[in-house]
Amino acid sequence: MSDDYVLAPPYSVLARGYDLVMEHVDYAEWADYVHELLQKHGTGSVKTILELGCGTGAFAGQLQPQGPYRYTATDVSEAMLTEARDLLDDDGDIRFEHADFREFQISEPVDAALLLYDGLNYLVTDDDVHALFDAVSAALKPGGLFLFDQSTPANSINNAAYFEDEGEEEGFAYVRRSAYDPATRLHTTTFEMETPEGRFRENHVEKAYTLDEVRALVSERFAVVAAYDGFTFKPATEASERIHWVVRK
Ligand SMILES: C[S@@+](CC[C@H](N)C(=O)[O-])C[C@H]1O[C@@H](n2cnc3c(N)ncnc32)[C@H](O)[C@@H]1O
Repeated sequence: MSDDYVLAPPYSVLARGYDLVMEHVDYAEWADYVHELLQKHGTGSVKTILELGCGTGAFAGQLQPQGPYRYTATDVSEAMLTEARDLLDDDGDIRFEHADFREFQISEPVDAALLLYDGLNYLVTDDDVHALFDAVSAALKPGGLFLFDQSTPANSINNAAYFEDEGEEEGFAYVRRSAYDPATRLHTTTFEMETPEGRFRENHVEKAYTLDEVRALVSERFAVVAAYDGFTFKPATEASERIHWVVRK
């Protein structure tokens, strides 16, 4: 790895090329799935949504009109929020706000909270996971739903024990390398990026939690409604690569 890259915080430089890196993700389909889960388990009563770790807003833009929901989307990265506001024009249907999902407060509790695409995996200690669950619980109305996903050790082992790709668009080029350590279950991804402002590196560390670990942690704060395998309505197993959790306050 060359050394002339400036180390940058996660999602500070990547923000501008994030949608390129994620172009394989079908957010419309994902939003359809989450809308269905909210209808199924919220029994039609979900009107207000708080999304955590919303990134560049691609998911929010697909889900919000389906309710239509009163929708607030938050992220800790100002650079990601800037991209989100540019993408969705900040036109009032979705309110974007800065928040660290381990320590935030909202003035009016919501019917449902969402955290999608590995947000949980970015928390690598049980203390941080507890902090997330406490903050979400405080933000929900009684009986409110928290819907989140996780990627698992099976995902890291099957798809990306060692993984490398690259991409380029005007003003942004990246090389991504990712490695998984089965002993610690830490999955480290390095982005080396070239922009008109220079060359930057971001290191992202995620933890691959097992199904049982998350079940134990989440059960301390919420009633588990369902843990689904991937984008299905089948129960998750330890072989699941992605799990969608639906839990109730
Ligand atoms: C893999 S991206 C997913 C973004 C979006 N949910 C999506 O599906 O495209 C993870 C996001 O979580 C955000 N994030 C990581 N740690 C966070 C924290 N402690 N509080 C709030 N957001 C956080 C990052 O800034 C990033 O936007």
